[in-house]
Amino acid sequence: MPVLTILPSGKTVEAEAGSRLLDAIVAAGEAILSKCGGEAKCGSCHVFVQEGRKSLSKIQRLENDKLDTIVGVGSKSRLACQALFGAENVTVELLGFGSGI
Ligand code: FES
Repeated sequence: MPVLTILPSGKTVEAEAGSRLLDAIVAAGEAILSKCGGEAKCGSCHVFVQEGRKSLSKIQRLENDKLDTIVGVGSKSRLACQALFGAENVTVELLGFGSGI
């Protein structure tokens, strides 16, 4: 079972392969916005994936199109509502409330 580490708090939580990054972040008790309910429309769940990026599901067009509209996006950016766990551990960095909007 992959383990998610969340920065900057350092909290960890186990996640099911195939489950959403967003759900694991919420399950860990971290504050993350999901204004659109996880439909890749708001960008409020933008995170930086520091480790394990390649084990996550590939970026689909909907996510890519939304990321293109967000200021501060980089090569490690993902929308947590769209990224699904693979088999490997993942480390993400939260950007704080209101980021990416
Ligand atoms: S929750 Fe809106 S883009 Fe992810």
